[in-house]
Amino acid sequence: MALNPKIRDWRDRRVWIVGGSTGIGAATAERLLAAGARVAVSARGAETLEARFARHAECLRLPANVLDTATLESSLAAIVARWGGLDLAIACAGTYGEMRAIAPDAKAAREIWRTNFEGAFNVYTTCLAQWKAQGGGALALVSSAAGYTGLPNSLAYGASKAALINLAESLWLDLARHGIAVTLINPGFVDTPLTARNRFRMPAMISAEQAADEILRGFARGAFEIHFPGRFTRGLKCVALLPHRLRFWCIRRFTGA
Ligand SMILES: NC(=O)c1ccc[n+]([C@@H]2O[C@H](COP(=O)([O-])OP(=O)(O)OC[C@H]3O[C@@H](n4cnc5c(N)ncnc54)[C@H](OP(=O)(O)O)[C@@H]3O)[C@@H](O)[C@H]2O)c1
Repeated sequence: MALNPKIRDWRDRRVWIVGGSTGIGAATAERLLAAGARVAVSARGAETLEARFARHAECLRLPANVLDTATLESSLAAIVARWGGLDLAIACAGTYGEMRAIAPDAKAAREIWRTNFEGAFNVYTTCLAQWKAQGGGALALVSSAAGYTGLPNSLAYGASKAALINLAESLWLDLARHGIAVTLINPGFVDTPLTARNRFRMPAMISAEQAADEILRGFARGAFEIHFPGRFTRGLKCVALLPHRLRFWCIRRFTGA
């Protein structure tokens, strides 16, 4: 049985993608626009939002920072003023930086934790009152397969994504009975500006457009967790189930760390 309502017809569905100016969020916004959804996109960089979505006159471009709740609130107010409500918010904003435990950077770690976790939390709390008032809604949190288990050189990012996975599970358990669907999106490696600076090998990498297709397929199934590409995420899920001795051996072997 599907854990969330299946979304197959996107026509006139009101969707807000926070972190939608580039990469996975932007590609998903474009797929949703093509499917007939009403789409609003937010990110800090107003110019990037304009450049990417200017040709979609119907797409609302609403600059916002997930760490500045006033900007999220004013964006949501603009959406509700235009469309009368909000059906789905996708919290996609995220940041990444490789970090080794032997040389931690507390300031950079805090920025990663805050953007990835607190930012998503802020999107949820911003939308909640609106969904209560309209009698339901849906939230999707973009976490990562990096949250399944500890990984080398992933000191701050992995922890932020593990926390998001836990948050999504808690939210589903609490909100389903209030008519608010919660979806967890766990990508593997996707070719975006976020991964462009990585110097290590990224197995099973897919394009942002392929990621967007996977996301839409997941919503059509009514899945709680949408993870992709399966050949990578399923393998990592299995590794995460192993006892630690075996798990650490596998991770070291595969990453060469
Ligand atoms: N690419 C991958 O391999 C991969 C794998 C697993 C999970 N993910 C997750 O997928 C999500 C999207 O990543 P991506 O790969 O598509 O990266 P991306 O192209 O760098 O996109 C990140 C988006 O978030 C926005 N953003 C960053 N900080 C923000 C803030 N404080 N407030 C509002 N918006 C903010 C960025 O715009 P501004 O900088 O203009 O604000 C941009 O629109 C992230 O949560 C990432 O962790 C990515």
